[in-house]
Amino acid sequence: MKPLFSEYTPAERAQMFEGKAASPLLPYRYKAKGLGDDLPASTGSLSVSGAQQKLGVCLENGLLRIAEPGEQSTHILKPCADGRFTLNHDMPANELFCLSMVAKLFKIPAVHATLCFFSDGVPAYLTKRFDVLPDGCKRHVEDIASLSETEVQGDSLKKYQGSYEQLAAIIAETSTAPLLDLRTFFKLVLVNYLLCNGDAHAKNFSMMEHDDGAWRLAPAYDILNTRLHVADSPFAMGSGLFSDGHKCHKSGMRNHFTEWAECIGLNAKFAAKEINRALTTLPELLLQLQKSHLSQKAQRVFRYHIRRRFLSLK
Ligand SMILES: Nc1ncnc2c1ncn2[C@@H]1O[C@H](COP(=O)(O)OP(=O)(O)OP(=O)(O)O)[C@@H](O)[C@H]1O
Ligand SMILES: [Mg+2]
Repeated sequence: MKPLFSEYTPAERAQMFEGKAASPLLPYRYKAKGLGDDLPASTGSLSVSGAQQKLGVCLENGLLRIAEPGEQSTHILKPCADGRFTLNHDMPANELFCLSMVAKLFKIPAVHATLCFFSDGVPAYLTKRFDVLPDGCKRHVEDIASLSETEVQGDSLKKYQGSYEQLAAIIAETSTAPLLDLRTFFKLVLVNYLLCNGDAHAKNFSMMEHDDGAWRLAPAYDILNTRLHVADSPFAMGSGLFSDGHKCHKSGMRNHFTEWAECIGLNAKFAAKEINRALTTLPELLLQLQKSHLSQKAQRVFRYHIRRRFLSLK
């Protein structure tokens, strides 16, 4: 398989690599069952949580390489999942597309990301670490699951327990600017619904400490249209939007989101404004999808599912 491109644009270099030269071609092979033997065994995987394998990456002399053990990585690489997931090779482009739409169309701060390619052309998702400053210092970041009192370390299903109402309460309690972060969280949950991300669990939202000591919602990450790869349900959190677990019906999604806004301390007027604004993005979203790196088949499936979500909010 051939890499989709072999050079980064100046804009990508500026955003991802502080303007430095970087090649998207990795000196490692990807095998169907995971990373190949070319990967130094000692590098293992990065100490960040998540279901998929993730690797810390550094840029050296224009080449991306897996960070050595103990070395501070500046980027995170997520290879695509294996063939048990449909359209698995489209996963990196799916995540890249969704996150860039979250930032550009929905105006929600999101991580910077791009694609890179193993030496056999298999694409991977590459993101610049928001918790590592250019001087190598680390910012304090806590995901919402670890901020929850009920979290049990090592229980990988815990992140799905509870509701978005509970996650909102944790954000409001932790944030230095609770109203602003709740508004962003409302928009994020709405966008996850519209883009069919069925894996927006408690570890996929984080709080981050800023230089002035303020704790604010971290940039959005790990957003992709999961319907391309699995037949999942709209909300990852087991109880859905509401703590009392009452179910949302497809025909009443606008009302459900409005009621949820009020539950988390926002108002119906704000919800209506954000829903209406979000709905105007569909034509541009579909246009940008055509220009994305997703395969033609993945684009068709993507279109089909998001159109249904947008319709459900009319
Ligand atoms: N750009 C970034 N900067 C800093 N940390 C990040 C960034 N992207 C992801 N992370 C951290 O790495 C963790 C794993 O990344 P991510 O959620 O993308 O992987 P994942 O395998 O899809 O996770 P899961 O399937 O469990 O949701 C995140 O929970 C977050 O804490
Ligand atoms: Mg994740």
